[in-house]
Amino acid sequence: MKQTRDAYQTTTTGHKLGSGHHLDRHYYALQKEYEETLRAAGFQSGWHVLDAGSGNGLFLPLLSELVGSSGAISAIDLAPENIEEVEELAKSGNLACPVEATVGDLTALPYEDNHFDGLWSANVTQYFTDEQLSQLMGEFRRVVKPNGVIAIKGVDISVWQFQPQHPILMWRLLELESRDNTQLSGAMRGTRLPGWFRDAGLTEIVSKTTLAERRHPLKGVEREYIRGNLEFLSKLAAGQKLPEIDAKEWRAIADTPDALINHLDFCYREMYVLTTGRVPMP
Ligand SMILES: C[S@@+](CC[C@H](N)C(=O)[O-])C[C@H]1O[C@@H](n2cnc3c(N)ncnc32)[C@H](O)[C@@H]1O
Repeated sequence: MKQTRDAYQTTTTGHKLGSGHHLDRHYYALQKEYEETLRAAGFQSGWHVLDAGSGNGLFLPLLSELVGSSGAISAIDLAPENIEEVEELAKSGNLACPVEATVGDLTALPYEDNHFDGLWSANVTQYFTDEQLSQLMGEFRRVVKPNGVIAIKGVDISVWQFQPQHPILMWRLLELESRDNTQLSGAMRGTRLPGWFRDAGLTEIVSKTTLAERRHPLKGVEREYIRGNLEFLSKLAAGQKLPEIDAKEWRAIADTPDALINHLDFCYREMYVLTTGRVPMP
């Protein structure tokens, strides 16, 4: 199936920044931090783990190593083109455990109660409103066994910065955009995810924040990833009623993103939070 290449990197099922092309750049630009985070989730050898909202499967090589040949992984995602890539990966022989992939909706998981030992969900919860997230947590808890682990990597864009661009430029854009854009308001919630874990009745809840920073000079994949983010944001800016001084700066970024990226003081920052919790014993 054809992957989309619009500035928003949208899946065929309508999720911006969900295309395989964007996910590849994101994962490889932040691979060191991402792998540390997955290792910290607490998945054990021999477990059957669900990757909920797997995208095109970038976390599966390491996740399969963690559960080992006696373990298993199920991957589920709404976007058929992402699941096609997971199926290719599963057939490649490069994964350390069996992986089965399903096109499906996280709000109605096609699995029985108490089916998995663990659940991993990275960069997904931002697409849901607060109310939908509560339903999602209920569904996650339902499919994980008592004593099993639910681990969610949640985005927190309150520290999304492209300095030396003035920090306020991002704040003003995000303030306007998050009013009616669930994805962006949801992406400000990563730090507050423990509240949803508590409401779902999970125990042993722990959160760990990671600040990923990339400074000049950037490696190739970091440059591509950050350029893609700037393309996304300047497109959002073009659709907003920003002060003319901001609009002008975003237009300049859209025209020549490398002028910012190549600045000697360029510093990219993004932050995310891993929250883990356990399903209580009955
Ligand atoms: C930003 S991508 C993250 C993919 C992967 N976890 C990663 O971090 O590379 C978000 C994914 O969530 C999926 N998604 C969004 N809403 C979903 C839903 N209701 N059910 C299943 N998948 C969903 C999208 O199709 C997309 O592949």
